[in-house]
Amino acid sequence: MKRFFVALILAMLVSACGISEATTRQMTPTELGLSSLRTLAQNRGISIGTAVDVKPFRKEPLYNSVLAHEFNLLVPENQMKFALLHPERDTYDFKDADAMVAFAKANDMQVRGHTLLWHLSVPRWLSEGNFTRDELMDILRDHIYTVVGHYRGSIIAWDVLNEAIDANGYIKDSIWQRVIGPEYIDLAFRWAHEADPQARLFYNDYGAERRGQKADALYNFVKGMLERGVPINGVGLQMHVGLTASPDPQEFADNLKRLAALGLDVDITEMDVLIQNSKVKGSLEKKFAEQGRLYGENFQVCVSAPNCKAFVIWGFTDKYNWAVSFTGRPDKPLILDESYRPKPAYNALLKVLSEK
Ligand code: G3I
Repeated sequence: MKRFFVALILAMLVSACGISEATTRQMTPTELGLSSLRTLAQNRGISIGTAVDVKPFRKEPLYNSVLAHEFNLLVPENQMKFALLHPERDTYDFKDADAMVAFAKANDMQVRGHTLLWHLSVPRWLSEGNFTRDELMDILRDHIYTVVGHYRGSIIAWDVLNEAIDANGYIKDSIWQRVIGPEYIDLAFRWAHEADPQARLFYNDYGAERRGQKADALYNFVKGMLERGVPINGVGLQMHVGLTASPDPQEFADNLKRLAALGLDVDITEMDVLIQNSKVKGSLEKKFAEQGRLYGENFQVCVSAPNCKAFVIWGFTDKYNWAVSFTGRPDKPLILDESYRPKPAYNALLKVLSEK
């Protein structure tokens, strides 16, 4: 009885203070002003995706409800990288990545696997192991068979290899390159294909969206793979851009076209628009407007290209974004603000999807 009266008084207080129902419980995506990008994207036959940060994914229900409401493609931001998935030679830790794959399944989303091989994700047991070439080939084959095999049928596309070439087309230094030699690349794709013949296999890199040396290097790199009969289906263009560093739309479109002529798909895999450290002066409002324009412009190029079938943003709320851990400067590079409300960037994507 006493409990009943306490609850009654509390309810009266809440109502007397004018606190609305929506502030005492979690707001829904619709109440936040979100329309569901994924619904429109589905109608246009394109996948709209985001990287998922494990921390909010594990503890913040609103993060997950917005994620499932807005996107039909999920990319674990870090949880499928070699160093996290394979922390000891005989230990694989699939816990977090499995949770994300299960979430995607439960919410009718596809999953991109990121990434089997990246020279910046090498666990200590590997870098300090003094392995011979044969041992390292065994380790690489075991890793790819185990990981791709574990997710066989659940992953639509794998970034098999990430950021392996420089702007001159040279293969970057890595334990794989040093000990196995450049063949490690073809082997990785072949093993991934053997482990899951249905998964689409991608080479993923940055700075190759516009015309120029890096784009040419990437083009020649993947062309070489195709000529050698390597099973590669596409290229991931990351698209980390800034207010004064976004590709010319025509150059970007031409680039997609020449990759299409090789028979390759192009996924936009990590789009965001950094607003700090740019020469654009003025209010935050002005920067957000320009940021939105660039999101829209690049998305439009992708939507218009028959071989660009997935557009992935590297996170979705400014509350959780990779920029500060990388540049040391806080930034607001994403499409929703810290309260999950739409920014001009969100509306720009919506507009592209709404137009015929
Ligand atoms: O979560 C731990 C925290 O517990 C610990 O205290 C802290 C100390 O360093 O580290 C935290 O982990 C960090 C993790 O991000 C989560 O924030 C790692 O150090 C940090 O290295 C990791 O950075 C990731 C980075 O790749 C390196 O793996 C970023 O989240 C991720 O956005 C970034 O993603 C890359 C793509 O994979 C490839 N393309 C470029 C892109 C941006 O750099």
